[in-house]
Amino acid sequence: MSTESLRQDHALIEKVLKAMWATIPLLQSGKTIPEPIISQVIDFTKNFTDLCHHGKEEGSLFPELEKKGMPKESGPIAIMLMEHALTRKLAARMEESAKTYVSTGNSVQLVTDMQEYINHLVQHIWKENNRLFEMAEMALRNDVERVNKELSNVESEKLKEIGKTREAYEKLAEDLAKQFPMPEDKS
Ligand SMILES: [Fe+2]
Ligand SMILES: [Fe+2]
Repeated sequence: MSTESLRQDHALIEKVLKAMWATIPLLQSGKTIPEPIISQVIDFTKNFTDLCHHGKEEGSLFPELEKKGMPKESGPIAIMLMEHALTRKLAARMEESAKTYVSTGNSVQLVTDMQEYINHLVQHIWKENNRLFEMAEMALRNDVERVNKELSNVESEKLKEIGKTREAYEKLAEDLAKQFPMPEDKS
């Protein structure tokens, strides 16, 4: 499947989004989320989600789909590109309010920005998994091996640029999920 590694990225991103969601009631009840956790989550959103994952989509998947005749200026690719830009904007806003939270302890803006970021990204991932990737798998059915290789090359390149490994991000997601389980996962 040509979107396999992108679907795996989505699962990893969703794990972190769930842990972020679980911190909201804690923040609202005045509990302190330690600074190292906040900065690791911000690093994940900027580097893994944006640079690496969106880098793979924008640098490999979308150009491959363009080659198959899907336009960049309109339709699904244009919408996904717009949503990536919005993700970036919301992440930058959240980074600012995280700084305010760390220095003042006031979490009001951070909670609002996190909710907005999470809601936006959850619906973006849903659209890709259930709409765009379905189309992509059909359009790229004869190029699976090549596209997978390309995606893996972009990933290695981006992670090298960031100076982190995929394993480190997987471990972070695992640790966050354990530390901040969703209420229904507690049973
Ligand atoms: Fe995307
Ligand atoms: Fe994606």
